[in-house]
Parts: sequence; C-alpha cells; structure tokens
Amino acid sequence: MKSFLNLEGKLILITGASAGIGKQLAIQLNQCGARLALIGSNQGRLESLKNELGNARHTYIHFDVTQLDKIPNLIQTLVEGEGPITGYVNCVGMRSRRPLNLLTSEHVQEIFTSNYFSFLEFIKNICKKKNYQSGLSIVQISSIASERGAPSVTAYAGSKAAVDASIRCLAKELAPKGIRLNSVVPAQTNTPIFQELLAASEGKPDPTLQRQFLGLGEPEDVSNLIMFLLSERSRFISGHALPIDGGFLIN
Ligand SMILES: NC(=O)c1ccc[n+]([C@@H]2O[C@H](COP(=O)([O-])OP(=O)(O)OC[C@H]3O[C@@H](n4cnc5c(N)ncnc54)[C@H](OP(=O)(O)O)[C@@H]3O)[C@@H](O)[C@H]2O)c1
Repeated sequence: MKSFLNLEGKLILITGASAGIGKQLAIQLNQCGARLALIGSNQGRLESLKNELGNARHTYIHFDVTQLDKIPNLIQTLVEGEGPITGYVNCVGMRSRRPLNLLTSEHVQEIFTSNYFSFLEFIKNICKKKNYQSGLSIVQISSIASERGAPSVTAYAGSKAAVDASIRCLAKELAPKGIRLNSVVPAQTNTPIFQELLAASEGKPDPTLQRQFLGLGEPEDVSNLIMFLLSERSRFISGHALPIDGGFLIN
C-alpha cells in the first residue's frame, strides 16, 4: 500500500481525526509516512491519538470546527509551520434525529454549521494561493442519508446532501487549479457512535443494516477508499459521491 499510493511526506489535514473513521484514517496515513495535521474538539481523545501514533512528525490541533471565524487563522498558522497542504479530509458529522415538529431553525443551523458551513470555510482557506500544492485532493464523508429518505433525519440528510451538491460545483470551479474534490458515502459503519446508537435501540432490528447485504462496514473499509482518493492513483476522479455501503444503495 505504501508505494502504491505514494503518500509519503505529504501534508494531510483531517478534521474529526480522534475517533471512528477519522482515527482509522490517521493510523493508516501514519503507516504510509504522511505528515498529518489532526483536529478534534476533545483534548483527551486527541492526547490518546497522539500516544497511539507515537511520533513527532504530526501536528495535533485542539479545535472546534464550528468556530468558523477562527478557521482562516488556523489554516494560515498551519501552513506557516508545516508548508502547503496536499490533502484535506473532513470526518466531522453531527448526528440529528428529530421529527418535523421538533425541528427548530436553531437546531438546523447548528447541524449545518457543523456539517456544511465549517467544511466550506476550511476549503475556502485551504484553496488560497500558497496554502495548497497542485494535486490537492479534498474528501468529505457524506452518508447514505443524502441519497435515501428516512424519518427524523431531515437536518442531517440535508447537510450531507448540501456538501455533495457543492462538491459537484467546486470540482469544476477548482479543476483549473489542479484541485480535486470527492465525497465517500458510507452506510452503517462500526464506529463508537454506531455502537452507542445500537445500544440505545434496545435490540430492535436496524432496517438500514438489513439492506446492507455485505453486513456492517468497518472504519477501515471507508478509510481505504479515502486513502485511494487522496492519492494520485485517483487523479481522473473528481466531483463524485462514491458509495461504500455494503450494497445498501442498490438493494
Ligand atoms: N459511523 C457510521 O455508521 C456512519 C455512516 C454514515 C456516515 N458517517 C459519517 O462519517 C463521519 C465519521 O463518522 P464516525 O462514525 O467516525 O464519527 P465519530 O466516531 O463520531 O467521530 C467524529 C469525529 O469528529 C470529531 N468532532 C466532532 N465534532 C467536532 C467539532 N465540532 N470539532 C472538531 N471535531 C469534532 C470527533 O472528536 P471530538 O468529539 O473529540 O471532537 C471525532 O473525532 C461523519 O461525518 C458521519 O456523519 C458515519
């Protein structure tokens, strides 16, 4: 994998790196010799990631991505210290389960700030001259919720669909600068948050999981696809939402 993907020495920024899919991605990129800038909002989780990766090559940033006005300075400081960015992956995704009568505009705003506005602010600043290297690859984690209806996930699904639609536009806009953007579209994946939701469902069968005929995904299934999208091996792919869903979307 190391030589095939050739990510050695590249600076990859990951928002939401301290748990689940983002953490698995950080572990694999570390093994490939990439330099990482890793963002999480929980200091303890970030510290334990630091201990686990166990080397000094990376930058750990304790930051809440919903602080939109602080993102320009964060990117500028990172680039001044570490050089231009060659890959950006956004793994932050705030969940929301609310029926229509509980869906306040404040709540929708909160979901969109976390899942959509912050992503736009990050890429707006990363894509400034001198902040990135030509060949920059940007990857967002979307969700099957962006493509299939389900009750009570209106705000979450809307925020994921908004990113996917914007990626299609930005892929064309930014191609002349040598920048590619894609999203990956996971179905149910075995991360700590999935386990929490499973525990809360008190043994009720999960209709989504029943349609995933390849079973429950592991974080590594998703991070493998992201690694490919970060590498030059995927140089001919931009603007797409690529399913990694155990068969859900064709079932
Ligand atoms: N797991 C699934 O079944 C599934 C299915 C479809 C799509 N997805 C999508 O995949 C992505 C990753 O999911 P996951 O299951 O790996 O999630 P997760 O385990 O909840 O991890 C999310 C990561 O984001 C960080 N984070 C959350 N809010 C943040 C904030 N405001 N600022 C900075 N960091 C923040 C978390 O760390 P801190 O709490 O320390 O900040 C954590 O590192 C999400 O976008 C999710 O919507 C997941």
